[in-house]
Order: sequence, then C-alpha cells, then structure tokens
Amino acid sequence: MAQTALPPRSAFPEGFQFGTATSAYQIEGHGFGGAGPTHWDSFAATPGNVENAENGAVACDHYHRWAADLDLIAGAGFDAYRFSTSWARILPDGWGTPNPDGLAFYDRLIDGMLERGIRPAATLYHWELPQALADIGGWRNRETPRRFADFAELIGRNYGDRLWSTAPINEPMCVAWLSHFDGMLAPGMRDIRATARAVHHVLLGHGLAIAALRGQGVGNLGAVVNLEWAHPASENPEDVQAAARYDAIYNRMFLGPLFEGAYPDLVLEGLGLHLPERWEDEFGTIRAPLDWLGLNYYTCKRLASVPGPWPHYAERPGPLPVTDMEWEIYPDGLRDFLIRTTQEYSGDLPLYVTENGLAAGQRTGDPSGTEDPSRIAYLASHLEAVQAALAAGVPLKGYFVWSLLDNYEWALGYAKRFGLVHVDFDTLDRTPKASYHALRQALRQDGT
Ligand code: FCB
Repeated sequence: MAQTALPPRSAFPEGFQFGTATSAYQIEGHGFGGAGPTHWDSFAATPGNVENAENGAVACDHYHRWAADLDLIAGAGFDAYRFSTSWARILPDGWGTPNPDGLAFYDRLIDGMLERGIRPAATLYHWELPQALADIGGWRNRETPRRFADFAELIGRNYGDRLWSTAPINEPMCVAWLSHFDGMLAPGMRDIRATARAVHHVLLGHGLAIAALRGQGVGNLGAVVNLEWAHPASENPEDVQAAARYDAIYNRMFLGPLFEGAYPDLVLEGLGLHLPERWEDEFGTIRAPLDWLGLNYYTCKRLASVPGPWPHYAERPGPLPVTDMEWEIYPDGLRDFLIRTTQEYSGDLPLYVTENGLAAGQRTGDPSGTEDPSRIAYLASHLEAVQAALAAGVPLKGYFVWSLLDNYEWALGYAKRFGLVHVDFDTLDRTPKASYHALRQALRQDGT
C-alpha cells in the first residue's frame, strides 16, 4: 500500500507544539513502587467488566522503563509529552502521608523530560481514583473534590516549577458519565443520581484544583474535554432532537459550566433533579480562568430517538470506515469542533488537540504489528483538519497523538493498540511502528 506522507513541521505556524500522550494507569504498572489500590483494580477484578479481566498491574512497565520511553519521545522529535500523575501512587490512601517512592518516580520522569528537551504537560487525574476515596462514594461525595484539591496542591508544591502545562482532570465526561451512567468505566455504576453528583463534583474538583495550583504559583493551567460529533441517524425531527441531546450531554455539559457558568437546558431536563444542593452557587469556583483548553477527539456518533427514560437516544452504525474500536473515522468533526468551540465558548483562549489517534493492528495481518498504514492515514487526515482550523483562524497551538505506546485500553484490556510504538505484552519489548517513523520524518528538522 502506498504510504501517505505526514505534513512537515514547516506546514504549521512557528512554535506549534507537537506531542504525544499517555496516562499513568495505562502504562506505568500500578503494582510497582508502593502505589495504593484504585477503583480500576476493583472494577477489573469483577468478572465481566474488562476483557479477559486484565488490569494495569504491569501494563507497559513504564515505571521501570521510563528512560527508554522518554528516549523514544525525544527520538521522534516531539516537543512535549502529555503524561498523568497517579493519585494513588503519590497518596496511596488518597490523602495523608505521601509515598516517597511515588514522589521520586515523578521527579525522575519530569527531570528526564527536561534533560531531553521535552516539555512536561501534566494531567493530575486520568481515571484511577484511590480506593479509599471510592470507599466513601468517590466522585459522588463532595469530599472527593476537596481531597483532589489537596492532591493538586501537593503536585504544585513538588513539581509546579518544572511543569510546562497542567490540567486537573482528563475528560470529565468519562469520569462522570461513562462511569456512573453507562457503567463502562470504573466504578461501573448505572444510576442517574450518582451521575448528576459525579458531574458536578468533577467540575468542582477541577475548579478547586485550579485554585490550589494557582495558589502554589503554577502557571499555564488548562482543562481537557473529549468531544464526539453528534449526527442524527436520519432527518426525522425526533432523531435530530436525539442528536442535540447527545451533543448537550457529551460535548456541552462541561464546556457550558467552564465557560458560561451554566448547564445546558437539555442536560438539566434529565439531571437537574439530582444535582447536589446549592449547585448553582458553585460556578464561581468552577469557572476559574484558564490559560488554555484541550480537546480530545476521535470520532462521531449517529443518534436515533428511542422510547424509554431520558435521554431517549441510542447509537446507530454509520457509513464511514471504522477503526478497531468500531469508531467511524471523521476528521471533519475535529475541524468543526475546533471552530465551534472557539466561536461558542473559548474565544481567543489557546486551544490544543490533547488526544487524537486510532486503535489499529488487529486487522493488518502483519505479525510484527509494526506496519500501520491506517494510523498514518488517520493522522494525515486529522492533521489536515488541524490545518483547516488554523486557516479559519482558530488559535490552535499544538497537537498531541494518542498514544506513544500500545497500552491498557481500560475496559477493553490490552487488545486495542493505539501506540506509535508496538509493545509485545509478553516481553514488554518496544518496537517503533511505521507511523512513528513517518512522524519522525515530519517533525525532525535535523534531517536524521
Ligand atoms: C480517551 C482516553 C484515553 C484513551 C483514549 C483511546 O478517551 O483519555 O485514556 O483511552 O480515549
């Protein structure tokens, strides 16, 4: 198959940041270094929740192999690395005495980035809640946002002067909705009241963490949301309304509070009854000014109206080619979200694409798993969308590929391969894929 070339760095504005992203539980190996148990360990230990009941105990063993992994990032010519800190690695009980080995790990990692000229882009919470906090109700309990702010302060105190950028919470949608309404992610609940409380407390945790980080003098603070373009499954007005409801829940439920200090009406129609007391008074904290906004983008959905309780929609298959996640490939959605977010919410605030990529590898028939033309094509089409958004005047400052390594894809275990670098999960050997080499060629300006 002919290889698509990726646009060179020179095709983007001066100073545009290219990076790659991972998260702690998906790569580190949570069983190492004195990390405390998390709700993901419990979720994975419950039959039926995760494919093959796989968990993150070993993952990619990044805890021990971090230096070689940072060499791979630098070798590709990336400017920045979006990683996350594991709350339970640093505070095994969620609060109280820090684990010195956990603190030392992120010291080594951050210093390792700086030594290699890589900008550390930290996310404080990428989904592995310390079990002790899950035991008191997790994000349903308003104690959790307070404890999260304490964790943020600790991070600010220890690493703040070395971080290039910091975001408190990765994808509030997944932390609150997919985890408490759809039951797809830990803690695996399916309860509307739990969902409403989690939505609001995740937002509160974000706002309190921003204040705690600012209090420590940490700058360049942002938020990271995930967006999916919502198409109606047909032109039928009920399906159009179903898509609008999905859009409100999936895409606007967090942008609304963060930028307008309000939940969308289409969200309140279902969750309003169940929000915690005095929720309206907390937008002042939630709307803490940001220095940037990150968008994670992968796909679009087709929504049909269905009978039954709110939100009365169901997903339908669409016509476009899909990835190994069965996600349709729809780069126009990235362009349109960048433009819409700027116009409707963020104005001239700098935007970043903080995740974009695809799972591929199960279908290539390449036994080494390193020939990934579909990933190169996916990146090329989405970088074209990025260029279109830039041409339309979007203040987009960077683009991060998900992910550096094949890793633990949550409820789907290790079967879905998102990496630019192949990981053999028996030997844990890393082998850069063709997409890694294509990016390296596009990004490195030294001709090597
Ligand atoms: C995002 C998550 C990330 C990974 C990708 C595929 O929603 O932030 O951890 O699972 O999807």
